[in-house]
Amino acid sequence: MSNRLEDNFGRRFSYLRLSITEQCNFRCQYCLPDGSSVDASCSKAELTLPEIEILVRSFAALGTKKVRISGGEPSLRKDLCAIIRTIKAIPGIETVALSTNGYRLKKDVVAWREAGLDQLNISIDSLDAATFALITGQDRLSDILEGLELASELGFSAIKINTVLLKFYNAMALPDFLAFVQKRNISLRFIELMQTGDSNAFFKKQQQSASAWCEQLQQQGWQLQTPALHAGPAREYQHPDYQGKIGFITPYSEHFCDDCNRLRVSSTGQLFLCLFAEEHQNLRPLLQAVMRQNESSQNQQKPDTQVLQQWLQQQVQQKTASHLLTTQQTGATRHF
Ligand code: GTP
Ligand code: 5AD
Ligand code: SF4
Repeated sequence: MSNRLEDNFGRRFSYLRLSITEQCNFRCQYCLPDGSSVDASCSKAELTLPEIEILVRSFAALGTKKVRISGGEPSLRKDLCAIIRTIKAIPGIETVALSTNGYRLKKDVVAWREAGLDQLNISIDSLDAATFALITGQDRLSDILEGLELASELGFSAIKINTVLLKFYNAMALPDFLAFVQKRNISLRFIELMQTGDSNAFFKKQQQSASAWCEQLQQQGWQLQTPALHAGPAREYQHPDYQGKIGFITPYSEHFCDDCNRLRVSSTGQLFLCLFAEEHQNLRPLLQAVMRQNESSQNQQKPDTQVLQQWLQQQVQQKTASHLLTTQQTGATRHF
C-alpha cells in the first residue's frame, strides 16, 4: 500500500477539513432553522490541541498539504491561534486556511495571520445590512466589512467570500455583488443551498439554482477559468474590468465529486468521508492510544502514528464515487 490517502476511484486526499467546534454565535437560517441552537455540552467533547496535533501529523504523513479549520464558528475557540500555529508547524502542511462567519475578524485577524494563517474564507450572504441581520441573526455587516478591509492588507494568499444563494434574500442582488468585487482582489463564491437534515422546509422555499447567474455573467463577458488541478469545489469566472473573481459552488451538479480532494473530521473526532455522509467513524480512540503510547515512551517529539495512518487508509476505501448516488434522501450533515 502506498503511503498516500487514495480511494478506489483514484482520488487522492491532500486536503483536510477540520471542524474545531460545533458552537456558533450566529443563527443562519439555513444552518440553524427556527433559531435552534447547538447543544452546549458538545464543546466539552471537542478535540484538544494535543489531539489535533497528532491527528494532523497523521494526515500529513499520508500526504495532506492543506488544512481548513472550520466550525461551527472556529474563532469561538480560545486556543484558535495556538491551533493555527501548531498545524502550520507540522512538516508537510503547506497551507492553513480558516472559514469564519467574520464575527471576530476585525479584532483577531492580525493575530491569526501572525500565527501562520494563509487563507481566509468569510461568509457574507448579503451586502445589505438589514438583510444580513435577517439571515444570520447578527447585525454585524459593517463590522465584518471593516475586518475584511483590514485582512486584505495582511498578505493572505487568498481571501474568499461565501454567499449562499437564497431565493428571497439575495437572488436579485447580483449587480451589488459584482460592484463589490470590481476593485477588490477577492474571490466571491455563490454557493447553492445544501439540504441538511434539519432544514428541509427552508431548503424548499429558498433553494435557487446558480445556472441563470452563470449565463448572465457569460453574457456580460465573464470567462470561465480552467481550474487548477485539485482547485476545490468552485468554478471561477474572471473579467478584465474586475479585480476580483466570481465563483460558483454547485454541489448538486453532475461530476461535482469527480475530483474530490478532501476528507472531513468533526470537532469531536468523527471521520466523515463526505460532507453529505451521515455515516462517520470515531477516530478518537486511536488518537488517544497514540497519546498514551507517546507519554509512556517519553518520545514526545515524534509520536508513532502508524496505526492511525493504516486505519485512515482503510477508511478511504469506503468512499463512494458521488454523494448524489447515496444521499438523495438525507442531505448534508451540518459540519460545514
Ligand atoms: P477552498 O477550496 O480551500 O477555498 O475551500 P472551500 O471553498 O471548500 O471552503 P469553505 O469553507 O469556504 O466552503 C465553501 C462551501 O463549499 C461550503 O458550503 C462548504 O460546505 C462547501 N464544500 C466544501 N467542501 C465540500 C465538499 O467536499 N462537498 C460539498 N458538497 N461541498 C463542499
Ligand atoms: N448550504 C450551503 N452552504 C452552507 N454553509 C453552511 N450551511 C450551508 C448550507 N446548508 C456555508 C456557510 C459558510 C460555509 C462554510 O458553508 O455559509 O460560508
Ligand atoms: Fe454559524 Fe456558519 Fe451555521 Fe451561520 S452557517 S449559524 S455562521 S455555523
